[in-house]
Amino acid sequence: MTLGEALRRSTEHLAAKGSGTPRLDAELLLGRALGLQRIELYMALERPLTAAELAAARALLARRAAREPLQYVLGEWGFRRLTLGVDRRALIPRPETETLVERALSLVAGLRAPRVLDVGTGSGAVALAIADEHPGAHVASIDVSAEALALAAENVHRTGLRVELVRHDLFDGLPAGPWDLVVSNPPYVDPAEIDGLAPEVRDWEPRGALVAEGAVEAVARGALAVLAPGGALALEVGDGQTPAVSALLCALGYGSVAVTADLSGRDRIVEGVRP
Ligand SMILES: C[S@@+](CC[C@H](N)C(=O)[O-])C[C@H]1O[C@@H](n2cnc3c(N)ncnc32)[C@H](O)[C@@H]1O
Repeated sequence: MTLGEALRRSTEHLAAKGSGTPRLDAELLLGRALGLQRIELYMALERPLTAAELAAARALLARRAAREPLQYVLGEWGFRRLTLGVDRRALIPRPETETLVERALSLVAGLRAPRVLDVGTGSGAVALAIADEHPGAHVASIDVSAEALALAAENVHRTGLRVELVRHDLFDGLPAGPWDLVVSNPPYVDPAEIDGLAPEVRDWEPRGALVAEGAVEAVARGALAVLAPGGALALEVGDGQTPAVSALLCALGYGSVAVTADLSGRDRIVEGVRP
C-alpha cells in the first residue's frame, strides 16, 4: 500500500468511527508512525509503506478509532510556544486557554518579578507558558491530583522552565501569598452536561478536571484572601458562564471586572482586580 492510499483509507476509517477531524488525525498519526512531518507526507504519497510502518500506523489509528483523543495518542501537544507531554493524567490544553495566558501575561506585564499562582495546573500548561513568556515571573502551581502533578513535573523537566508544584485542594483555601496574579482554568462543566460531551472528553479526560462543583466560586473567594492589593484574578469559564462569574466577582468586591472572548469569539475569560 502506498502512503497516499494509506492516508485516504485511514481518513475514511476515522470518519466512519466518528472523528470530527479525520484527515488531520490521519495525517498526524501516519506522520508519527513514519517519523515524517505533514508536509513530508505529501512529498512521498507514491512511496510504498513497509510492513513495520503499516503495523505502527495501524496501532495508532486503532487507538484514535476507539475515540481516544488525538493528543493522547500522539503523547504531546503544542500550547503557546511550548510542546508539552499530554496523557490521561490531565486535561488536554485547549486553544481558549491560550487566551487565558494572554490575559494573564498582560495583567502582569508591568511587573518585573510578579508572583503568580496557577490553580488547577493539570499538565502545567498555563504556569509553564507564563514562566516561558515572562521570564521574571515566579510561578507556583497547585492541583489536587497527584497524577496531574506528576505529568506537570515531567513538563517542567521537559521545558527546563521554573515552576513550583504543590499538591493542594483549592477548597481548603489558596496558598498564602501575597500573589500579584491568581490564574485558573478550574473545572467548570455542569455535571448534568457530562453525558452530552464528545466521547473523547467524556470517556478519556479526567473527570476531576472537568467537574468540581463550586470550584469557580471557591477560586474567586480564595484569591481575594491571598492576592496583594492591586493583584489580579484571571479565570477561564465555560461558554455562557461569564455573566454570572462577572457578577460574582463584582459582588465579592473585585474591581475592573472585564470579560475577554477567545479566538472563536466566545466570551470565556473573566478577570478582576483586588482593590
Ligand atoms: C480544567 S483542568 C485545567 C488544567 C490546566 N490548567 C489547563 O488549563 O489545561 C482543572 C484542573 O483542576 C484540578 N482540580 C480539580 N479539583 C481541584 C481541587 N479541589 N483543588 C485543586 N485542583 C483541582 C484538576 O485536577 C485539573 O487538573
